[in-house]
Amino acid sequence: MSIKDTVYIKKDLEKLRDKINIYNYQYYVLDNSKISDHDYDVLFQKLLTMEEMFPDLITDDSPSQRVGASPLSKFEAVNHKEPMLSLNNVFKSEDLNLYMERLEKQLNIDHKKMEFSAEPKLDGLAINLLYEEGILKIATTRGDGTTGENVTNNIRTIRTIPLRLLGKDVPKTIEIRGEVYISKKGFEFINSDMTEKKFANPRNAAAGSIRQLDSSIAANRPLDAFFYSIGFSSDELKIKTQSDLLEKITSWGFKVSNLNKVVIGQNGCENFYNNIFEKRESIPFEIDGIVYKVNDLNMQKKLGFISRAPRWAIAHKFPAEEKVTIIEKVRFQVGRTGVLTPVASLRPIQVGGVLIRNATLHNMDEIKKKDIHIGDKVSIRRAGDVIPEIVNVVEKNISRKKISLPKKCPDCNSKIEKAKDMAFAKCTGKKVCPSQKKGAIIHYISKKAMDIQGLGDKLIGRLVDEKLINDISDLYKLDEIKLQNFVMNKAIREDSGKEYEITLGDKSIKNILDSIQSSMNVKLSNFIFSLGISEVGEVTARNLSNKYKTIDKLINAKYEDIIELRDIGPIAAKNIFDFFQDKNNLKLIQSIIDSGLKLNVNKKVSATNISDEIYVITGKLKSKSREELKNLIIDNGGIVSNSVTKKTYAVIVGDNPGSKLDKAKKLGVKVISEEKFYERIDI
Ligand code: IVH
Repeated sequence: MSIKDTVYIKKDLEKLRDKINIYNYQYYVLDNSKISDHDYDVLFQKLLTMEEMFPDLITDDSPSQRVGASPLSKFEAVNHKEPMLSLNNVFKSEDLNLYMERLEKQLNIDHKKMEFSAEPKLDGLAINLLYEEGILKIATTRGDGTTGENVTNNIRTIRTIPLRLLGKDVPKTIEIRGEVYISKKGFEFINSDMTEKKFANPRNAAAGSIRQLDSSIAANRPLDAFFYSIGFSSDELKIKTQSDLLEKITSWGFKVSNLNKVVIGQNGCENFYNNIFEKRESIPFEIDGIVYKVNDLNMQKKLGFISRAPRWAIAHKFPAEEKVTIIEKVRFQVGRTGVLTPVASLRPIQVGGVLIRNATLHNMDEIKKKDIHIGDKVSIRRAGDVIPEIVNVVEKNISRKKISLPKKCPDCNSKIEKAKDMAFAKCTGKKVCPSQKKGAIIHYISKKAMDIQGLGDKLIGRLVDEKLINDISDLYKLDEIKLQNFVMNKAIREDSGKEYEITLGDKSIKNILDSIQSSMNVKLSNFIFSLGISEVGEVTARNLSNKYKTIDKLINAKYEDIIELRDIGPIAAKNIFDFFQDKNNLKLIQSIIDSGLKLNVNKKVSATNISDEIYVITGKLKSKSREELKNLIIDNGGIVSNSVTKKTYAVIVGDNPGSKLDKAKKLGVKVISEEKFYERIDI
């Protein structure tokens, strides 16, 4: 074929793709097809045939290239060209009022005269799309705001996302941002279709689908996306307002919510909020509030950012949805430390698009306070990911039954203890209680502890029930044969009619064993946390690791020495000390070390030694989240505490500091700015 022929064919293919792209846009984005299904199929088939004949001419943005990418082994980390920020929230009118007052002060304008772009806050997964020369190059998740994961293959399967931008006025490089979601209907559909695992809500379903390494899974999920902002742009865009921006990205082929509206002043914002809140049920996708954005982009620039959120926007969140249902039964769940949590079995009810069957009753005091009985009609609330809880009793049942604490553990039959001054009742079974055993192992393998992957809660439950694992040291005795036998035994039991929903293929078995192996090389702080000592969270574990540096030194630490550590109170110190006095615990630790555990002290990144210096943080930080600063202090060998005492090395102050600043001044403790601290550790 001559070069001339190739050029002609290339041109023909381009025309064909453009045509199909427009039809796709009309069908998927506008929901208004201008062509019959048959005619579309003929065109698409023509494209496929031509591409089959001339595979060298297949381009990335061809409509034929949405599905079929080979599975990845992991997601690559990608830096956003502009950071992806989050939004500050308000929940009440009064707080919105304060926000408006602040805006007025900063801009010197009456808010009643200001325009806002009011937009539903979509409850999905934030996504960043990078287009170069109008072609989709990389799609990334938000990640930590600076770096996300490359999920391009999955994003390409979403038909409403253009692989090539429409129109001619497209900047050379541009980031377009929005939210990937699954509609309420789509969510019901995939959940009814999934035999095993169900998603808790549409957001989890969307996030779970985008985080699959094999894009054929995403291709089969009803994913969709709305867009609402621009990140980096290489060319100046001649737009003056957020509403123009929305129009511009609509013209490039993106789906933009048609609920968005320009409103005036706080009144306009609240009217919009009330209006959307009222029709929330009938909106086909989940929203959890309204975002108000100052419409004028010049004003936005003037306002800038604070911490990691813009001053020019605020999210007005909806209150958690409440529904009324009946408590049918109450059972007691035993946690890893033996604490009993009463859980109500409810007559199933749909709350915010999710079918709710259980609600936590927290503890016996709560039941008493709210006067909750079995048979009562109660109001339940679901807030985000939190387990639903009972707000109050709406109607008492005449034959209501009292909820009483069992005398024996429902799981191991050991005695239940409840100290008078404590809200919680505890099973005294400790190591003989299967629930406590399972809880301890599940905590041990969790991400923030040893991060052993491939073993879910259910599988751990079964392995303990089948006595393959009795304590955490048994994890290291698992091998292929044991796990394969376990799977085979399971198949035999299935034949005998018992239901089991766990499947474990050879590949999963290998992944589990590999993950156990690679978790052996671990930070000392993670290991301390993983031991599940009561009151020892991540921060305490890291403070302990920084102070003692080896597990032996921690094991031999005296109570008086432990309590010296400032964020450790007498109860935590006693728990830590007692834990390492217990011979069984020491045997367990020795056995894990003998299996090949390698403990590393947290790395120090700075030249300055801030070892053992105790820091307290107060106020809102500018360039890092509180969590990030805490990590930075700890990773550099310092200690973080919540209260200011004479032993505090310095208090790091941000905007609007709290009473900790007054206390520091009173005690003569050094007060430093965030920047000063970064200087100390050379960043
Ligand atoms: S604007 C700097 N607009 O809410 C502006 N965000 O809590 C940042 N979200 O990460 C985003 N709907 O995932 C914006 N209409 C909307 C939104 C929206 C949902 C999400 C987004 C963001 C999170 C912030």
